[in-house]
Amino acid sequence: MNILKIRALLGAALLAGSSTVALAAPPALYTADQAKAGADVFSQNCAMCHGADLSGAAGPALVGQAFASASNKYTIGPVFTEVALQMPAGQPASLTHEQYEDVFAYILQQNGYPAGTTKFDYTAGLSSKESLVSQKP
Ligand code: HEC
Repeated sequence: MNILKIRALLGAALLAGSSTVALAAPPALYTADQAKAGADVFSQNCAMCHGADLSGAAGPALVGQAFASASNKYTIGPVFTEVALQMPAGQPASLTHEQYEDVFAYILQQNGYPAGTTKFDYTAGLSSKESLVSQKP
């Protein structure tokens, strides 16, 4: 195969990839009020390990492809369960259910998920099979 053909194929693959992302617009899983409250929960309980901008520090990044790329095949349930039962690391399950709902709404918002009219719910969140794919680079 010559180099021009390879370039053409790569270009087509890239185009196909980006249109897939555009088609798979994520669902609204939380309210704007939850995400707003969650920003405070995050800065007080999570930012010291995950970075004020979620880009990671002692803990891993919670935003972008380093966190939830399509190839990771994350779903909401296991990730929310880790947050609700293991975080903040060192003081697991020390926040209220509402604080966990709010902080997860904030994480979804920061990853490009839209706000809607239905609240993110603690119990439903633990077993949610909704896929979690960051819309951020
Ligand atoms: C004392 C440091 C520390 C604090 C505070 C902390 N985390 Fe973590 N977090 C970690 C570490 C380390 C890991 C990775 C190891 C693990 O999974 O236990 C992690 C993992 C995670 C993961 C899984 C990431 C992935 O890619 O699967 C999420 C989500 C998360 N934390 C969210 C939070 C939230 C939300 C808070 C605040 C309520 C928080 N963390 C507070 C250190 C921390």
